[in-house]
Formats: sequence, structure tokens, C-alpha cells
Amino acid sequence: MLLFRSNYRKCFLLLILLAYVTGLNAQTFKSEAKIAIQQKVNKLLAKMTLEEKIGQLNQYASYKNATGPISSTGNMIDEIKQGRVGSILKVNGVADTRIYQQAAMQSRLKIPLLFGEDVIHGYRITFPIPLAEAASWDMDAIGFSARLAATEAAASGIQWAFAPMVDISRDPRWGRVMEGAGEDPYLGSRIAIARVKGFQGNGLGSLDAVMACAKHFAAYGAAIAGRDYNAVDMSDRTLWEVYLPPFKAAVDAGAATFMNSFNELNGIPATGNSYLQRNILKGKWGFGGFVVSDWGSIPEMVNHGFVKNNSEAARVALNAGSDMDMEGRSYINNLPILVKSGRVSIATVNDAVKRILTKKFELGLFADPFRFCNQQREAAIVNSPSIRNAARAVAQKSMVLLKNEGSLLPLAKNLKTIALIGPLVKAKKDMNGFWALPWGVAHETEPVSLFEGVQNKLGGQTKLLFAKGCNINDTSKVDFAEAIATAKNADVVIMAIGESYDMSGEAKSRSNIHIPGVQEELVKAIQATGKPVVVLVMGGRPLIFNQTADCVPAILYTWWLGVEAGNAMADVLFGDYNPSGKLPITFPQSEGQIPIYYATKNTGRPLINDNDRAYKSAYLDVSNTPKFAFGYGLSYTTFKYSNLKLSAKAINNLQSIIASFTVTNTGNYAGEEVAQLYLRNRVASVTRPVKELKDFCKIKLMPSESKTITFVINKQKLSLYNQQMQWVTEPGMFGVMIGSASDDIRLVDEFELLKR
Ligand code: GLC
Repeated sequence: MLLFRSNYRKCFLLLILLAYVTGLNAQTFKSEAKIAIQQKVNKLLAKMTLEEKIGQLNQYASYKNATGPISSTGNMIDEIKQGRVGSILKVNGVADTRIYQQAAMQSRLKIPLLFGEDVIHGYRITFPIPLAEAASWDMDAIGFSARLAATEAAASGIQWAFAPMVDISRDPRWGRVMEGAGEDPYLGSRIAIARVKGFQGNGLGSLDAVMACAKHFAAYGAAIAGRDYNAVDMSDRTLWEVYLPPFKAAVDAGAATFMNSFNELNGIPATGNSYLQRNILKGKWGFGGFVVSDWGSIPEMVNHGFVKNNSEAARVALNAGSDMDMEGRSYINNLPILVKSGRVSIATVNDAVKRILTKKFELGLFADPFRFCNQQREAAIVNSPSIRNAARAVAQKSMVLLKNEGSLLPLAKNLKTIALIGPLVKAKKDMNGFWALPWGVAHETEPVSLFEGVQNKLGGQTKLLFAKGCNINDTSKVDFAEAIATAKNADVVIMAIGESYDMSGEAKSRSNIHIPGVQEELVKAIQATGKPVVVLVMGGRPLIFNQTADCVPAILYTWWLGVEAGNAMADVLFGDYNPSGKLPITFPQSEGQIPIYYATKNTGRPLINDNDRAYKSAYLDVSNTPKFAFGYGLSYTTFKYSNLKLSAKAINNLQSIIASFTVTNTGNYAGEEVAQLYLRNRVASVTRPVKELKDFCKIKLMPSESKTITFVINKQKLSLYNQQMQWVTEPGMFGVMIGSASDDIRLVDEFELLKR
């Protein structure tokens, strides 16, 4: 035994030593590769003319699928051959990208093009919209979704995904809330990391990796009144506490690129904002990648009234740290003169060019400009069944069960007759959501509708009836009678209501976020038949549907679930998947409450109960509570929380506390629960929110199974920006809240942070 132990020890030590040396080697290898690339970049830079350098800062879009104002119809191929273009967006597919890359190989220095695309939630196979994926709170699923999208895109000649969009938003009137991860900086940061790592996989140069692009830098989601592109005005405190953390997380996760934003921030357009792009991003955070402007945001600084003409826009944007000009034609048309006249230094141009060339070297494009143009690989990978199956699994996890009175769900699979009623029951294209890439006819026909999903699930056993009942967004009730009659012939009614896919997304803000048209009246009429009614609500944002929420027994929020939507919905409706989603954003009762979010301040006159509103921070006409809270979501089973223990009741800021507790599945279904940790800093030099999400854990439990969960409460989670905006900890009491939602706290405790 002793002999075994000493040999074991020797092996163990040898392994440790090997790991250490290997680790050093890996780091050494990385830094040597970095140095080698910089030498190649500098060598190439030395050969480049001014015009060729500026060409690298110039990005054109193909107008096949323009996602912004079209600025010119010049001959792109000729300009590429002249070395006037560094990147193209909206050209995808091996065949097309090869054509443009061949043009680049005819330029004097043969500098390869970068191909970028809006791979926002899937490439050829459309996954749930990002806000839906965020509702899964499943970092593995979210990362895997990005990984698969990157694999498809890279096999299609793309090296750059304009994602993840990491804009925090607390205003569901803003249409682009569908594209992000909701309202919370902690959840948003965790998801930013998952998505950046998903897109970049094993690192640039891998044939299944694409550059991530954290966007839109910064604070775009705080557009005044939720109106897209509107001004943003906020304190430095709110900027640093709420809107910047997911961007910092993206930098720390190694995001290769950033995209700036259309909005001004406190009077300065983000595109021309050196505080954001140079001081914070490239300075304090040490970001070594490059920044691309958003579509035309450089010349749009003229509209902002921030610069007087396009030449000034080019000068200000480049000096502020915008390295590449997306579809603005500002750099290519103005920088040569600006440099020659000394109004822009060649050093500034060189810095931007080096950042871009570095990525092209890291991607291996100089070694082989056509390495992403392999038709066999494209045919084998793109649109593969395995990716489509994954889309269904992610969609299952993204749905949120908002109500299930009397456990109406899951439905039995042997019902005699089911009526499916509503304008979204047979909708297909809508399932894609706003940012799905347009694959022509496939885009319209491939998504599985709810009706098809139920059909696939039940086969011929159950009779399925259908009535549209009404349109999404008009006032006609001519089809109500048919819908009511249909409902009366069924055992159960499944309804599908909501927005259309293009009522959220870019430039899709709504002042009224109620479910449009007469859909809720239809629900009421169907409910009045006395039949059991399940309502699926579909949309790209939190919608308001108070009447429906109050009158039907079961509600499932399905967002836009992508190409496998109908199958995933049927999986949940008939119990083959127990819903596990939690809301990543607050659902208001009324637009008048907006902005509404869980991490509110207590104020000097907090509303303690709704019956005593005199001189309290409250409305006359609506309570302060949301319709559905951040972190809320039900399951077909129930969970009990117990036995909270803190490893200490007092620590200094060099120590941590382990909070451990038990979660038990007390129902009859296996299910997943997202246990959430909120902290409250009770007294500080600046007021703190009544609770802040600081950790979460998604666990699967069989019926009657218990698991102990531990959260580490460390200095990072206790820190704040003090009055001087220094990131510090301050001694005092902290409340610990653990629960199933921000408004469903099951365990509480407290501890003291001591002076050191
Ligand atoms: C759009 C969007 C941006 C997108 C870009 C390219 O205007 O704001 O998110 O990546 O243009 O399509």
C-alpha cells in the first residue's frame, strides 16, 4: 500500500509539473504567435499606400438583403480590385464569397476581405430569438446555439457575426429588446460571455469559428421613450452600473470586435465618442480588436448636428476610435484628403488598419483567403438535421409558463378533439422572428407552425379543428362566430395570439405594447364557451395582455422560437418537455409603468402596501408591481427551498461567504428550476437597489429529488461605485435573498461586511 501511495504521489506530482509546463508552453506559444502576427502586420503596413490603408477601413454591403439605407450603387467588384474595400457584409455562401475574394486577390497587395453577416439567432437554421434564449437561463444552451450558428456561417464563407447584441433594455416599447438578453446586467453579462465563446469557439483560425461582435456600444437600449435611434441621456453611474457590464464581459470573453451604436450618449453620438471607444474600451479595458460603425452611423453624425459635413464626420469618428466604416463611405471619400492635410494623423489610420489586419491574420485569411470557401464542407454542415434538432431543444428551454391553473397543462395525448384558434396558429414565417436571415421560399415554408407541431405530435389520433378567429392587427370580428362554434366542438382549445414577427426588431418600436387588434376579445369570447383554454402568446418583446392573463387558466409565452417552433411548443403542451424558462425582462401591467424593472430603488417614501398610497411613491391608477416579474416562470412540478446556511455571518472584503441551500422537487414531474441569488446592500454611500441578481443556477430534479446548491458571495458581488465612481466595497449589512423569481423569494438571511 505504501509503495502504491509513493508511486501515486510521484505520478501525481509529475502530472502537475507536466500541466504547469504545458500551460506555460501554451501561453508562450500564444504570445509568440501574437508577436509573429504583429511582425507580419507591420511588414505589410509598410508596403501599403495611404489609399490601400483607407481601403481596409471601408466596408460595403451587398444590397441583396440591405438592413439599412442604401447609399450607393457603385461597382463594388472594381473597387475591391483597386484595394478600396476591406470587408463586405450581406454576402454569404461559398460561391458568392469566393467571387468577391477572387476580386480581392486581383488587388495589388492581395489583402483578403472579411465577410460579415447578421448571425443573430442562427445562420441557415433559425434558432429562438436572443431574448427567448435568454429566458432559458441555460448558458450551455445559449452558448451551443451560438456555436452551431458559427459553424454554419463559417462553412458558408463568413468570418464575422454581428453578434451578440448585449444592450441592456428596460423599455419593452423598444423593438430591439428582442435581440438582447433583457434588463439585468448580471444575467446579460453571463449571456454575453456564453455567446462570445460560442461564436469564437476554439479561437479565430478554427474553421468553425467566427469573430464575435459585441454591440451596440453603448447604451443603445436606453433610447428615450423606447423610440429606436432616439437620444440616450443617463448618469455615468447608470452607464457603469447597468449598461456597460455586458460589454466588459464581452471584452473579458475575448470578443474580437465591437460595433458602436446609432444613438448619442449625453450629447455625443457613440460613433464619435472617444470617452466610450478610446478611454473605456481601448484604454481602460485594453480592447485589442477593432470597432466597426453601425450602418451609416458615421455620416449620420451630420444629422445629429454633431459635425457639419461628411469630412468632419470621418475625422471625428476615426479619432474617436471607430476603426471601420460600415456603409457610410465617409472614410473612403474623405480620409485621403484629411490625412494629406494633416487633419487626421497617419498614426491614427495605421492603428485602425493594424487592428483589422491582425484579425485577418488570426483568421488565417492571408495563409489561404479561400479557406472558408469549401463547397463540400458547406454542403455537409449547413442546414443539417442535427443543427435543426438542436434548435428544437433550445426552443423547448426558452418558453416560459406564466399560468397553469388546475394543472390544465400538460394536455393528454389522447384527447378526442382539440380546437386550435387564433391568427398565429398556422403562422410560419413569424416563427423566425425579426433577425432571421432571409432564405427565400425556405424562410416562409420551413418553420413548423403550432398547428403542424401539434399534428406531428398527435398523429391522426386526435381530431384537430382550426379557426383563425381574427387577424393580428385589425378590428374585424367577422370570424368570431366561426371560431366560437369551432371551440364548442372541441374538448380543449389551444389559442395562439400575439404580435407579428415584424412588430419587433430594428426600427420597430411601439408606443402601445398591448396585443394588437381584437385578439384579446377573441380570447374572451372563446373563454366564455366554458371550454378549457390554453393560450400561447408570441412576440419579440414583453406584451401587455392583462385581460387574457386574468381570464384563462393556462398561458405559455413562446416568443419567436425559430424553425422548430411548432414541434417545441407541442413538446411542452403535451408534457414531453417540462417548461423551465424564466423571464429575463419585466412584463408591465401598463405602458405607463415603463421603465419598470425589478432592481428598483427604495426611495424615501416606499410603497409598503397598495392600500396605503398617501404620499408614497405610487400611481393613482395602477400598482407598482409588474404583470409578471423578472425571473418568473412556472413548471409542471413544484420546488421547495430549504436549509439556507451561510458559511459566515461576518467577513471582510478579502473573504467570501458560501451560501448553501436545498431545492427539492415536490411535484410529480421531473423538472428544471432556476434558483436565483439576490443581494441587497442595505446602507451605502450611494443608494442601492432593493435587490440585485448576483448568481443563479439551473438544476434538473426528478420527483422527490433534492440537491444542495452553493453560491459564492465574494468581493466582486459586494462592490459598488462610490460617490467618486470608484469601484469599492463598503462595510455594512447585506440582505441575502434566494428564490424562484425576483418576486418569489423563498429563503432569506443576512451578513455583515466588516471594515478591514
Ligand atoms: C443594422 C443594425 C446592426 C446590424 C447592421 C448590419 O442597422 O443596427 O445591428 O448588425 O446594421 O446589418
